[in-house]
Amino acid sequence: MDKQNHITDKIKVAIVGCGNCFSSLYQGLEYYKNADAEHIPGIMWADIGGYCPRDIEVVAVFDVDKRKVGKSTGEAIFAEPNVARIFQPDVPAGPVVQMGHVLDGVSDYMLEQPAELGFRLATAKPADVVHVLKACKADILINYLPVGSQKATEFYAQAAIDAGVAFLNCIPVFIASNPEWEQKFIDAGLPLVGDDMRSQLGASVLSQILQELAFDRGLAVDFHQQLNIGGNTDFNNMMVQTRLASKKKSKENVIRAQNDIRGIPVPEHSLFAGPSTYLPYLKDNKVAYFNLRLRGFGDAPVTIDAKLSVQDSENSAGVVIDAIRYLQVARELGVVGALRGPSAWTQKTPPEQMMYAAAKQECEALAHRQLSASVRKQLK
Ligand SMILES: NC(=O)c1ccc[n+]([C@@H]2O[C@H](COP(=O)([O-])OP(=O)(O)OC[C@H]3O[C@@H](n4cnc5c(N)ncnc54)[C@H](O)[C@@H]3O)[C@@H](O)[C@H]2O)c1
Repeated sequence: MDKQNHITDKIKVAIVGCGNCFSSLYQGLEYYKNADAEHIPGIMWADIGGYCPRDIEVVAVFDVDKRKVGKSTGEAIFAEPNVARIFQPDVPAGPVVQMGHVLDGVSDYMLEQPAELGFRLATAKPADVVHVLKACKADILINYLPVGSQKATEFYAQAAIDAGVAFLNCIPVFIASNPEWEQKFIDAGLPLVGDDMRSQLGASVLSQILQELAFDRGLAVDFHQQLNIGGNTDFNNMMVQTRLASKKKSKENVIRAQNDIRGIPVPEHSLFAGPSTYLPYLKDNKVAYFNLRLRGFGDAPVTIDAKLSVQDSENSAGVVIDAIRYLQVARELGVVGALRGPSAWTQKTPPEQMMYAAAKQECEALAHRQLSASVRKQLK
């Protein structure tokens, strides 16, 4: 987009969950505040519909941990148990973190963990979320709750609807990919993106590309395994097996989708993708191990073993900076419901899985404020 078309209004975002992912996002907004070049290293799209990263403003933050509630955002993002890498120590104070609604956001297991590895509940009275969202004129509510927060996610999604705010669901509770929830957003005339962030260069996109590469080159995939280890609270929270289930499903969706799109059945017991263990010393370093067993010409065996090592939370922040801007542009264009292309590009479980190139093309169109055929169907 030409510089003269650059938009001067900020995109106002509200946050649920002042954890590691939000720490990276908030630091990143400051880190990239002067970046308006056509290419910004570390960011997929410098300009989306006239918006740069610096056009995003955080206007409200909700959490339930006593080390964060009542503190300024600039202080809370560095409070325990957050371990995200500090690459931008000087950040604006930002809004004071308000008390959220606990519901099922915090498990007994996380309360029993040592303080630096678990959660500690604040006793403050929960804020009126709908009122706060309206008062601070939020455009988008971003959900960064712990995995397994079904009731809490539904509570905040409903608050977004009631306040007339778009929703970005970064976690594996199925909202954008659930037709009943999508309909509620359509009825309210709002767009949403979800579910469960697909990091910038993370295990999901790497698994997808390897699976696509095998199929595009005519190979059969007999086995695809993706093991993940990490040391942040997200990994610790997923030590509770009942909370982990949706994450495993979401991670496997990414790989399975590439079979489904092509009508290739997934052989039984041939797929595993999920968090495998929690090793606190890794902190925010996530390590993923891939093992693919393929069959080529004449059934010749082909094996791929790969290892990916990333900073988990920073890896998610660039994607969120993009998803925020897609949502805002979509809203301005009058698009409602779950955005197909941006959800497939930025999330593991979108309402509609796409091939890499197709999702990218949809996002490129929206970045230029063009309405692709699928987006035209979603106009108000
Ligand atoms: N690359 C990534 O890191 C990545 C990728 C995909 C999805 N995700 C998902 O994003 C989510 C956030 O990840 P994270 O690393 O920031 O987690 P985190 O554990 O660091 O942060 C979660 C925050 O939510 C707060 N919280 C708990 N219950 C709450 C409630 N009811 N209301 C308000 N706040 C509440 C906690 O106090 C904590 O500050 C997780 O579900 C994770 O699986 C992360």
